[in-house]
Amino acid sequence: MITSETVLDSARQLLERSILYHSGQPVGTLAALDPALVAPNYAECFVRDFVPSALFYLLEGKPEIVLNFLNMVLDLRAQQPIILGHERAPGLMPASFRLPNDSDDEMPIADFGDRAIGRVAPVDSALWWTLLLRAYVVATGDLELARSPRFQEGLRANLQLYLKENFETSPSLLVPDASFMIDRRMGVHGHPLEIQALFYGMLYTTQELLLPVEENRYLLTMCKKRMQTLRSYVRIYYWLDSERLNEIHRFQSEEFGHDVTNILNIYPESIPGWIDGWLPRAGGYLLGNLGPSRIDFRLFTFGNLLSILFGLATSQQAARIMQLFELRWEELIGEMPLKICYPAVEGEEWAHTTGSDPKNRPWSYHNGGHWPCLLWAFTGAALRTGRQDLAERAQAIAAPRLEQDRWAEYYDGRRGSLIGRRANLMQVWSAASLLISHHLLENPAARDLFDAFMLRDENPESEVSLPRATPQPAP
Ligand code: GLC
Repeated sequence: MITSETVLDSARQLLERSILYHSGQPVGTLAALDPALVAPNYAECFVRDFVPSALFYLLEGKPEIVLNFLNMVLDLRAQQPIILGHERAPGLMPASFRLPNDSDDEMPIADFGDRAIGRVAPVDSALWWTLLLRAYVVATGDLELARSPRFQEGLRANLQLYLKENFETSPSLLVPDASFMIDRRMGVHGHPLEIQALFYGMLYTTQELLLPVEENRYLLTMCKKRMQTLRSYVRIYYWLDSERLNEIHRFQSEEFGHDVTNILNIYPESIPGWIDGWLPRAGGYLLGNLGPSRIDFRLFTFGNLLSILFGLATSQQAARIMQLFELRWEELIGEMPLKICYPAVEGEEWAHTTGSDPKNRPWSYHNGGHWPCLLWAFTGAALRTGRQDLAERAQAIAAPRLEQDRWAEYYDGRRGSLIGRRANLMQVWSAASLLISHHLLENPAARDLFDAFMLRDENPESEVSLPRATPQPAP
């Protein structure tokens, strides 16, 4: 066994101590238990942070907390406030919630970005909620819950919000900066990969769970179309390997009309210097962001792993992403899995991209830091692609160090060798993630169940036809 009992006990204890009770019922887990928290909202239950806790409890056969959480977050939606004078359409789910002081009769208090640093919008919350609902139904067989009028209404409200026309010209979802796990300004506005993977997962799941009654017909048709087009769009245009890099390097630009290959008018001049020589021939990955004359070449690891786990990447792409982790192990795993994005932005670029955010200085926090909470997704993706060896190596690095470092939130440095300068200790999703990973490596039944929680591309042949680039003669 890779992970010692001492480490596992410590992680389990942290998770148990983090449980929030409302009216005597477990409803979620706190983000961190560090007595010296770096920000007061870490003493709340974050929707995205609860996901690893929830998956762990489902794998352990303890679904009650997940059921209560799903109900709670659905109810909290009614609290959506006016932010900066702006009244938004209903449908958004909160980033986090906290319990009212001493009173079980009152509802918890949600944060829709109205209290969050920078007033950022939690676009990922409703996407995670939907995916968690599916995992709960798979684990318990309680399809009645998803089919109940309240949950059907919740699924409909999600679709109505996320499928709303938004001056879009592509099937990907347009979002503001900081609307997901990277919840500070980091140049991740536009069409970031992580949001596209979660959006795809939500569309896939809603298609399964929303009843095909007359009232839902139009929404379901739109949902299916968007899902299929998004899948093809991501597979073709977000994919980067050395062949595609060569194509981009020799792109014609300023093409006008329907029959063009460089549809987003990407200028070869925008290819950053670091990528030549860094991207191994055998590897590949899905790009960080894509828009008009814009490719963000940074590798965002969570979006790539989710694309594997949700069947958004093809199986060949999935295998090459895992190969990239193997071939660039020192930079992407180093002394703690997993680098959140590579490379860091530095100097003037750091100032412009982050708004001179000192927490996101180069190779720290979101800007090239290492986040142990991503381990569950790494292990899941490695197992799905037949790379148990990589999962075991990562677990062996993470387990002893995390316990020794008291479940740090993140690590700094090019190789993740330093505990994050402003990291919390006792960060709950660091512990939950290690526990899931352990289950997946050691327990075949848990592995099968986890595999059923994740999504599969049932119909890999059903690609939507989109213009593809063919190598162009040099101008
Ligand atoms: C930080 C992270 C965010 C997380 C929150 C609570 O803001 O960037 O992803 O949800 O902390 O842990």
